[in-house]
Amino acid sequence: MLAGKRILLIIGGGIAAFKSQLLIRALREQGASVTPVLTRAAEEFVTPLSVSALAANKVYRDLFDLTDEAEMGHIELSRSADLIVVAPGTADLMAKMAGGLANDLASTLLLATDTPVLVAPAMNVRMWEHPATQRNLATLKGDGVRFVGPEKGDMACGEHGPGRMSEVPEIVAAVGAALADGPLKGRHVIVTSGPTHEPIDPVRYIANRSSGAQGTAIAAALAALGAVVTFVTGPANVPPPGGVQVIRVQTAVEMLEAVEAALPADAAVFAAAVADWQVTGKMTSKIKKDGSGKIPALKLAENPDILATVAQMGRKRPKLVVGFAAETDDVLANATAKRKRKGCDWIVANDVSPETGIMGGAENAVTLISDAGAEEWPRMGKDMVARQLAARIAEALG
Ligand code: C5P
Repeated sequence: MLAGKRILLIIGGGIAAFKSQLLIRALREQGASVTPVLTRAAEEFVTPLSVSALAANKVYRDLFDLTDEAEMGHIELSRSADLIVVAPGTADLMAKMAGGLANDLASTLLLATDTPVLVAPAMNVRMWEHPATQRNLATLKGDGVRFVGPEKGDMACGEHGPGRMSEVPEIVAAVGAALADGPLKGRHVIVTSGPTHEPIDPVRYIANRSSGAQGTAIAAALAALGAVVTFVTGPANVPPPGGVQVIRVQTAVEMLEAVEAALPADAAVFAAAVADWQVTGKMTSKIKKDGSGKIPALKLAENPDILATVAQMGRKRPKLVVGFAAETDDVLANATAKRKRKGCDWIVANDVSPETGIMGGAENAVTLISDAGAEEWPRMGKDMVARQLAARIAEALG
């Protein structure tokens, strides 16, 4: 997958540096060559000797190492790579990158290059959530830096939350996506997927049968064409694809917030089955049967319409906004009316009547409704629908 690709791997000083050693091996197994760079702090976690042995390459450590300068200056070192991977991307490295600092080899390489950069952040949850890190993250995304992770989970410091570095296969997939050369290279596309869960009380929720299969396939197909994909997903049955930025949400309100935070984008595809209603006055403790036979009444309020909100935005509206219409009757008429009402460019309509087996199944039969009219596609695998849709999006974005 990565045959002949040259990767400059900057290893920052974090406990996750041990995973970077496995990453070197995995990248080389895919055919890439890896040139490792260690920060001072990284040497507290991994040794230059083991990194060099795994990479079968020289390890670069010091900006002022004259031998290195004679062999290959730092400018040349960063430019000779197809991709720079920063893993673990510590809070310090992210801050240096965002601020344009160049006071050691790693930060100088990152400033002295126009090679694409992929960061796999790894830090304590509080450091990750700190407004300074979040500001730096936004700045770096604006500069076109790609990110993979961090994941939520238990951390070496004993805390729990976002901040764990992604696992090696995810980083390898992100490397593949960053190097993917296709018609959507450099384009940012937001994809929503899966159902939403609307809580009733701390243990119960309202949900729907969406598996997230079609949205996941679309995100994968867009990434394969070189797009930078932000994948905003509710609790789906299928795992998210590799090579995309995954943002996990539960409710419609959270999904809208995540989509708004991910803008600007060139295109947005709304494949999520968003719950139409949320429960008002949510209980902070579990609703109990009290033996009286009285049935609790749930009061519902309408959820925000994410697709309509984004489609009717002014300045920040993506150039192409694609919605879905899952209908059980009068598919064409309902979907055509929906396109008008929501203000989106395209509607992908499908019949989700139980007898079609589409909801939760592997196949889909869709009609693409645009300004040009309705175009019926033959029934095919959801992967194929995704690839065709991605190709059409690439065409539309030029
Ligand atoms: O109104 P309906 O749910 O049928 O519209 C479906 C389309 O609108 C899908 O693209 C879905 O992702 C999107 N949608 C949304 N937010 C909602 C409801 C639907 O983005 N609250």
